[in-house]
Amino acid sequence: MALSQSSSLLLCVFVHIALLSANLCFAADPTISYEFHFSYITVSPLGVKQQVIAVNDKFPGPRINATTNYNVIVNVFNELDEDLLITWSGIQMRRDSWQDGVLGTNCPIPPKWNWTYDFQVKDQIGSFFYFPSLNFQRAAGGFGPFVANNRPVIAIPFAQPDGDIEIFIGDWYTQNHTALRKALDAGNDLGMPDGVLINGKGPFRYNTTLVPEGIDYETINVEPGKTYRLRVHHVGISTSLNFRIQNHNLVLAEAEGHYTMQQNYSNFDIHVGQSYSFLVTMDQNASSDYYIVASARFVNESLWQRVTGVAVLHYSNSRGPVSGPLPEGPNDVYDKTWSLNQAISVRQNGSASGARPNPQGSFHYGSINITDTYVLKSVPPLTINGTLRAALNGISFVNPNTPIRLADKHNVKGVYKLDFPSKPLNRSPRKDISVINATYKGFIEVVFQNNDTVMQSFHIDGYSFFVVGMDYGNWTEESRGRYNKWDAISRCTTQVFPGGWTAVLISLDNVGVWNIRAENLDRWYLGQETYMKIVNPEENGETEFAAPDNALYCGALANLQKDQKHSSSAASTFREHSRLFLTLLIAFLAFTFS
Ligand SMILES: *[C@@H]1O[C@H](CO)[C@@H](O)[C@H](O)[C@H]1NC(C)=O
Ligand SMILES: *[C@@H]1O[C@H](CO)[C@@H](O)[C@H](O)[C@H]1NC(C)=O
Ligand SMILES: *[C@@H]1O[C@H](CO)[C@@H](O)[C@H](O)[C@H]1NC(C)=O
Ligand SMILES: *[C@@H]1O[C@H](CO)[C@@H](O)[C@H](O)[C@H]1NC(C)=O
Ligand SMILES: *[C@@H]1O[C@H](CO)[C@@H](O)[C@H](O)[C@H]1NC(C)=O
Ligand SMILES: *[C@@H]1O[C@H](CO)[C@@H](O)[C@H](O)[C@H]1NC(C)=O
Ligand SMILES: *[C@@H]1O[C@H](CO)[C@@H](O)[C@H](O)[C@H]1NC(C)=O
Ligand SMILES: *[C@@H]1O[C@H](CO)[C@@H](O)[C@H](O)[C@H]1NC(C)=O
Ligand SMILES: *[C@@H]1O[C@H](CO)[C@@H](O)[C@H](O)[C@H]1NC(C)=O
Ligand SMILES: *[C@@H]1O[C@H](CO)[C@@H](O)[C@H](O)[C@H]1NC(C)=O
Ligand SMILES: *[C@@H]1O[C@H](CO)[C@@H](O)[C@H](O)[C@H]1NC(C)=O
Ligand SMILES: *[C@@H]1O[C@H](CO)[C@@H](O)[C@H](O)[C@H]1NC(C)=O
Repeated sequence: MALSQSSSLLLCVFVHIALLSANLCFAADPTISYEFHFSYITVSPLGVKQQVIAVNDKFPGPRINATTNYNVIVNVFNELDEDLLITWSGIQMRRDSWQDGVLGTNCPIPPKWNWTYDFQVKDQIGSFFYFPSLNFQRAAGGFGPFVANNRPVIAIPFAQPDGDIEIFIGDWYTQNHTALRKALDAGNDLGMPDGVLINGKGPFRYNTTLVPEGIDYETINVEPGKTYRLRVHHVGISTSLNFRIQNHNLVLAEAEGHYTMQQNYSNFDIHVGQSYSFLVTMDQNASSDYYIVASARFVNESLWQRVTGVAVLHYSNSRGPVSGPLPEGPNDVYDKTWSLNQAISVRQNGSASGARPNPQGSFHYGSINITDTYVLKSVPPLTINGTLRAALNGISFVNPNTPIRLADKHNVKGVYKLDFPSKPLNRSPRKDISVINATYKGFIEVVFQNNDTVMQSFHIDGYSFFVVGMDYGNWTEESRGRYNKWDAISRCTTQVFPGGWTAVLISLDNVGVWNIRAENLDRWYLGQETYMKIVNPEENGETEFAAPDNALYCGALANLQKDQKHSSSAASTFREHSRLFLTLLIAFLAFTFS
């Protein structure tokens, strides 16, 4: 249950009173609070019963609706049978990697426990999502939308849409995440997914041979003549998808927190972990409903026909159901340049303002000197010590038992090494807890070189990066001559074509320990990730937030962890909060007016 905004303001005041001595105290930024219960529900999105992870019984989960600089409190209840961590993909957690929700920064929340995330959506706008980061759980759901609205004083660079629609697309297996994990542990490939879900639902029965009877599909209801903002997120496992709506233009407006130049597309390739906003005008005659399609990319489509998500766009004045063939996507199995060119066509709208009043384009990234270069090369999965693993620069990452900054603060030695190679080395791959020693205030170039046979997407926590170059072949220093130094999009998840590279520039102004990972769930699970450690040497890490009071302890620090009493019902705790608030409010007023 999401608490209402007014009651959460109470909590906000409560928190501020509790922190009376800190500067945070009278920050005017509002607080919104949520209570999220992650539990299994049984549904049959593809006609086969399976357990999926719901949030407050919803799949996908409820929306977090914030505005720039809001404080967000999410009390997460783990009602699964295994550890849980929630990560807030794209939310930068400035100076606060304690809230990032990945194993390098947080101890997992054990089953039956709850843990409260408390962070600020500092200087951000845009469309993001949250998801469970452990144990392949995203393949079972647990994801939901996270919106950071513009502050009212900063206009959005398009007319206020008539509505806001969240669309989650992703490839899906009817096997549960435990079974998928077992397959990977046994060294197997997951094989072709069983379908594509749109908002947690299977395909509309557009073809009676391909789609069985009785599948619940998604219907998006709209009014003729209106324009909607569609926030589309790829929360799937490993398959790139082409997104399109029959007879409708997609006007691209935002990519993961930055406004884009508005361009028309009839269909758009979206890769695992990516988010986009499209403005779509309902300008058709509604002679019938329309198909919304998300189909598999870069595969033999006649073999992969079932890996197609189909939903229905329904005008209120529609004259009947949709029928006939799906609108065609790009037909270019042998020619991937179309997709590459489409990716390069995404440009930042330099004159639009986002989180701050000054235009997005006022940071002239193209004229800043690069301080360090990291070439991170991925190769197809390989066998290390008898098990199948995936590696970056020959390192297949193993998560530390003790989170990295927690180990630092408590002087636990030997938890990890700061020796992640800045380029591929000619040595045999190994499993290791090896982290990048990155320089605070550096301006770095990261080149993702994909020698794997599949499309990859890479994500960096804590940051947004400029995607300055993308091409096939090997990256070389000469490739810099072709970088986009003017209007490259700044985002947090980029695709890297197989046999190709993507170069990004990052200004390292956010202290903490930040995950760099393959978004493809199987590659990530097999070890294709690392972390960047960024501390301010002059301040000995003081610019970073202190560990939160409720920090969980594990690994070498497990003895510091108190057992958690399983709390009763949410309602009673809310009453407790209200009572505590009243007590404090009275104390506060007494203090103020004395
Ligand atoms: C989200 O918050 C904004 C700004 O406070 C508000 O205008 C909008 O109606 C909210 N949207 C939803 C879906 O709650
Ligand atoms: C667990 O939830 C209760 C409210 O139900 C809250 O008081 C407590 O702080 C939460 N525990 C943690 C570790 O966040
Ligand atoms: C997952 O699937 C396996 C094998 O099909 C089954 O034994 C197990 O009970 C399932 N687990 C859950 C949580 O659904
Ligand atoms: C349905 O799909 C099958 C298999 O691809 C195809 O042979 C058939 O022509 C399709 N039916 C229609 C009505 O499009
Ligand atoms: C997009 O297409 C529509 C209709 O086809 C046209 O009116 C509009 O000007 C186009 N917008 C852009 C940004 O090209
Ligand atoms: C509606 O539009 C479709 C496609 O643009 C067209 O084929 C059809 O004739 C139109 N129907 C009516 C009733 O105008
Ligand atoms: C796709 O698979 C079909 C069926 O196996 C095969 O006939 C066809 O040649 C394949 N197409 C391509 C482009 O590989
Ligand atoms: C960047 O480097 C060049 C040459 O190495 C130097 O001349 C220039 O001043 C540097 N620019 C900045 C902004 O530091
Ligand atoms: C293989 O495992 C052994 C024993 O655990 C370990 O000493 C060795 O370093 C491992 N080799 C690699 C390449 O990870
Ligand atoms: C990490 O880099 C800093 C300089 O940025 C250096 O002082 C420090 O010794 C490095 N640490 C290790 C373990 O290499
Ligand atoms: C890329 O580099 C590898 C060696 O790392 C080489 O084997 C391969 O041929 C190169 N590919 C191209 C397209 O130049
Ligand atoms: C990967 O690298 C090998 C040699 O290093 C090269 O022969 C092969 O073409 C590359 N494959 C891709 C997909 O980049």
